[in-house]
Amino acid sequence: MKGKIMQKIFYYLVNRCLNLLHSYNINQMNLPTKYKIKKPITIEAHKKIILGENIGINVNAILIGWGGIEIGENTLLGPNVQIYSITHDYTKFGEELYKGIPQKVVIGNNCWIGGGTLVMPGVNIGNNSVIGAGSVVTKDIPENVIAYGNPCKIIKKRFEV
Ligand SMILES: CC(C)(COP(=O)(O)OP(=O)(O)OC[C@H]1O[C@@H](n2cnc3c(N)ncnc32)[C@H](O)[C@@H]1OP(=O)(O)O)[C@@H](O)C(=O)NCCC(=O)NCCS
Repeated sequence: MKGKIMQKIFYYLVNRCLNLLHSYNINQMNLPTKYKIKKPITIEAHKKIILGENIGINVNAILIGWGGIEIGENTLLGPNVQIYSITHDYTKFGEELYKGIPQKVVIGNNCWIGGGTLVMPGVNIGNNSVIGAGSVVTKDIPENVIAYGNPCKIIKKRFEV
C-alpha cells in the first residue's frame, strides 16, 4: 500500500518536472500573442524558430531549429511532426561529419502539416498547402496544394477555381 502511494507520488513529481521543462522550452521561443502548443514538445535552438500568429502545434513535435525555422500564421502541425533545419556532410568523418550545415525551413500561412510528417532541411512549403500524414517532404511544395507521400508529391490543388 505504502509502496503504491510512493509510486504515485514519484510519477506525479516526474510528470510535474517534465511539464515545467516543456513549458520552459516553449517560453524560450519567439511566441506570437495567440497560439496553441501541446506538450510534450522537443525544441533545439529555440531562438532561431519564429512562429506566426495563431499557430497550432500538436503533441510530440520535434523542431530542430539550428538552421532557422519559420512557420506562418494560422498554420497547424499535427502530432509527431518533425522539422529538421540542419544537415551533415556525409562525405566527411569525425568532427567534419559532426559539424552541422544549417538549411532554413519555411512553412507558409494557413498550412496544415499532417501527423507524423518529416520536413527536411532547406524545404519551403507555400501558403495554404496541406501535407498529408506520414509524409517525408524532401523538396519545396508550392502554395495552395495537397501533397503527400514519401517522398512528398503534389496530388491536387487545395481549392478548385
Ligand atoms: C492528405 C489528406 C488531407 C487527404 O485527404 P483527402 O483529400 O480527403 O484524401 P482521401 O482520403 O480521399 O484519399 C485519397 C487517396 O489518397 C490516399 N491518401 C490519403 N492521405 C494519404 C497520405 N497521408 N499518405 C499517402 N496516401 C494518402 C488514400 O489512400 C486514397 O488513395 P486511393 O485513391 O488509392 O484510394 C488526408 O488524407 C491526411 O493525410 N490528413 C492528415 C490527418 C492528420 O494528420 N490528422 C492529425 C490531426 S492534425
